[in-house]
Parts: sequence; C-alpha cells; structure tokens
Amino acid sequence: MGVQISPSILSADWADLAGEVARIAPAADWVHVDVMDNHFVPNLTVGAPVVERLAAVSALPLDVHLMIEDADRWAPSYAEAGAGSVTFHVEASAAPVRLARELRAQHVRAGMALRPATPVEPYADLLPELDMLLLMTVEPGFGGQSFLDLVLPKVRAARELVKGRDLDLWIQVDGGVADDTIAACAEAGADVFVAGSAVYGAEDAAASIERLRDGAARHSHLGAASA
Ligand code: DX5
Ligand code: ZN
Repeated sequence: MGVQISPSILSADWADLAGEVARIAPAADWVHVDVMDNHFVPNLTVGAPVVERLAAVSALPLDVHLMIEDADRWAPSYAEAGAGSVTFHVEASAAPVRLARELRAQHVRAGMALRPATPVEPYADLLPELDMLLLMTVEPGFGGQSFLDLVLPKVRAARELVKGRDLDLWIQVDGGVADDTIAACAEAGADVFVAGSAVYGAEDAAASIERLRDGAARHSHLGAASA
C-alpha cells in the first residue's frame, strides 16, 4: 500500500454530495466524512443516515471520522451504514480496545484519532488492535485551519512505534494538509492524507489530489502507488 489521499467533504457543496464525490472519484482513494455532534467539537454535520446514502452512491470507500461524544455507543452504527473505515476519538471512548474489536468484527477498518494535545505513548500497547491511527494536525471541528507543525514529532514517534512492532497500521494526518505541508507529514511517517479545503477549494479537484499525492510520495518511505 502506497500513499493514500482521502479528501474531506467538509469543504464540499453539501447540497450536492453525490456530485462532489464523483468529482474526486477518479483520483482519490477514500472519501473522508467528518461526523460532528456539536458536543465533542463546536460544530454539527451529518449522521448515519447520510453516511448510508453516501455509501450507496459513492464509487470510493468511506473513511468516516467521528468527532462525537460516547463513541462506544454510536460508532458501530457507522459500520452498519456502509463505511469502509470508522475512526473514533480516544478522548471520547470509555473502552477503546473493546470498540476497536467491535468495529473489526463488523468487517470495517478500525481507526483511532488523537487530538493535537493527546500523546501517543500511552496507547502504544493498543496499536495492534487498530488498522489506522489518526493524528489530528488541527484542533478538530472546522475545515480551513492552519496546520499545526507541533504535531510532527508525534507523527515521527508513531511511525517509530509501528516500525518497532512491525505493525500493519496506517498513520493518517488530518487538518491543514496542503501542497506546502504534505511533504513534512510524509517525511515524518504519515501515509494517509486527509485534505478538505486543498481539494475542494481547487478548480480541478482531481489535479489537486494528484499534486498532493506526488508531494507526499516524493517524501514517503512507501513510494507512489495508490490504493
Ligand atoms: C477537521 C476535520 C477535517 C477537515 C480538514 O476537524 O476533521 O477533516 O475537513 O479540512 P482542511 O483540510 O481544510 O484543514
Ligand atoms: Zn476529519
């Protein structure tokens, strides 16, 4: 598996989600769906019924990022709705191991996300339970924020943990990922890149995805192959 790009529809036209997914389908690996509950983050987006319809019309698998409280209770319904990957925040989960196992038992990829201030080291022993670790590079809640390069040492530390244990775990970065920041993320060890405004703010979304992919691949330990 090489570098993967997961454009976030947070910056897309919500009145035409099917069309917005079709725009990125030729170039992207995933569609990143940001689910927000106005409690875990100060913003509100969509829930499982919309994810279910998106999964039905999308040519790409859905990468669902849950920014919601009580993830243990709600995350499984997003697997049922047809997501390919479900990522919950560790800060919003009472039993992350149980939840990750539950998601895997539902045959979706289990992801766990960390806010910028949450360290990775306390979760080192938990990593084999996961398919993806999401390291937020902005405070979650909104698109279009500036990249926090203070997270890069954590990306590096996570990559070392993955290497040291020889794990098959993807490391995703999300927030402020664009042409000028993606190289540093790739160099630090990320392999799945979420980009919202950098893709949907561009005239040619597919071209912007290819540019991001090239920028990442040139600095990645993985090479250029897509999913
Ligand atoms: C932020 C979301 C991100 C967001 C990224 O809380 O989780 O997925 O869409 O948007 P950009 O790429 O514009 O920072
Ligand atoms: Zn996200």
